[in-house]
Amino acid sequence: MIYPVTVYGDPALRKVAKPIDKDFENLQELLANMWETMYHSDGVGLAAPQVGKSLRIFIIDASPGAEEEPELKDFKKAFINPQIIETSGDEWVMNEGCLSLPEIREDVIRPDTVTIRYQDEEFNEHEETYKGYAGRIIQHEYDHLEGILFIDYLSPLKKRLLKSRLSNITKGKITPPYRIKIPGK
Ligand code: NI
Repeated sequence: MIYPVTVYGDPALRKVAKPIDKDFENLQELLANMWETMYHSDGVGLAAPQVGKSLRIFIIDASPGAEEEPELKDFKKAFINPQIIETSGDEWVMNEGCLSLPEIREDVIRPDTVTIRYQDEEFNEHEETYKGYAGRIIQHEYDHLEGILFIDYLSPLKKRLLKSRLSNITKGKITPPYRIKIPGK
């Protein structure tokens, strides 16, 4: 099932998401729907708050990065209850987009490397370090669980320049090629 994607102005995007426990029902179904929603919207990552669920879950398919980083060829992963342990490495700029901010792309500075502890779909614990493209998407998706959007990192001037476009998103005046949930509707 394809979920409608929450967009800027939706309170779900500003909450700190809650962890899930092993008794959580229908995790496999939720994940399957999230994958379907992400591919339908042509995204490389999707966090549960973006489908209106304030849960600490995100999914990533970093395989489009394989052109430059061949090891990402089969990089497809679900992160349950993730916790960033550390970020490190040189900061670099990437032009980021977000399904919850349709038609907005901006340069965002983030550290290169991230060490993250998380559980997989079977609730096995992992601690891994990622850099480059995968490290970038992980940091972006993780932010969604903390109620943070990439525009929060922009300068006050850049934010001011985006104000009317953001308000158009909230009012439902932007129609991306995927289903969205207009805030308050
Ligand atoms: Ni996003």
